[in-house]
Amino acid sequence: MEKVNFGVTKRGEEASLYVLENKNNTTIKVTDYGATLVSLLFADKAGVQKDLVLGYDNVTGYEEHTSYFGAIIGRNGNRIKDSRFTINGKEYRIDENENHNNLHSGKNGFNTVIWEVREHTDNSITFYHYSSETEQKFPGNMEITVTYTIADDDTLHIVYNGKADADTVMNCTNHSYFNLDGEESDSVLDQIVWIDADAYTPADSGLIPTGEIRSVEGTPLDFRTPTAIGARINEAHESLQAGKGYDLNYVMKDEGAYTLCASMYSKESGIRMEVRTDAPGMQFYTSNFLEEKGGKNGREYGVRSAACFEAHYFPDATHHENFKSTIVKAGDIYHLKAGYKFSVEK
Ligand code: BGC
Repeated sequence: MEKVNFGVTKRGEEASLYVLENKNNTTIKVTDYGATLVSLLFADKAGVQKDLVLGYDNVTGYEEHTSYFGAIIGRNGNRIKDSRFTINGKEYRIDENENHNNLHSGKNGFNTVIWEVREHTDNSITFYHYSSETEQKFPGNMEITVTYTIADDDTLHIVYNGKADADTVMNCTNHSYFNLDGEESDSVLDQIVWIDADAYTPADSGLIPTGEIRSVEGTPLDFRTPTAIGARINEAHESLQAGKGYDLNYVMKDEGAYTLCASMYSKESGIRMEVRTDAPGMQFYTSNFLEEKGGKNGREYGVRSAACFEAHYFPDATHHENFKSTIVKAGDIYHLKAGYKFSVEK
């Protein structure tokens, strides 16, 4: 494993970039700032290594922009309506950072702190963070580890383990933006996606779920047959209109089992990505609001230039009894896994 300087944060902390590789030279670069996946290098059908995730060249880029590229999101990924929730009869208020709602835990999210490196090998690294009860104003002090492993079968595994000293919300995710033609490509609209979900959680115009679980049958949200992202993205469906493209939570079939649930494929590069998770839900987001200058090598990243497959519990689960609870009891273990496996078709 190689460790290189990744710049200094505004708070004066030194950030590092860790370079990990498997036996095929598939490489991941992760920084301790936000426990963020910065690069994922994988060879395309011509044998040229492509960087398949959007990002920045140093920690300043991650601090200054708000798209959560590659970061670990927590304590709660996705939205909490009205930025408040009740646990054991007590109401807690957290940051309002999107309308009156909380998105991705607000300004002191896990994406904004320097994590401690606990252990590493040549192809695996474990980050640790102690999240105090004052950090984001969720109840209790929480300890969390995230392990990234680039396995020899070219799967990137991301494993989360958390524990707190009070009943609290735990619902992390990784927010990588993938483009299988490389981060320099302008569009993912021709890339072909499969999502093994029969249902999704419809949401209001602020992307807060209504609580309903609805079939994808007969809608442009149905990816049970592999379809190009761009084929139906502009159709007049309320979910596509609210999100300005795909930005919705799919209901996973095999919750609790670490099974294949989605894939994306590019004919141009020949690269295929298979997604697996044991999470109950997955937000599929086609970077519809993206407008970032100053990306890697000065790149500008625009709308629909990448896709996110965010494995997590359902959005706003604290307000819906029929959604699997994101509340973890004091002392209980929170555990979640997501995997992204890369292969190439020549
Ligand atoms: C959300 C999008 C949001 C994006 C970046 C996704 O998880 O669903 O609505 O724009 O994150 O913050």
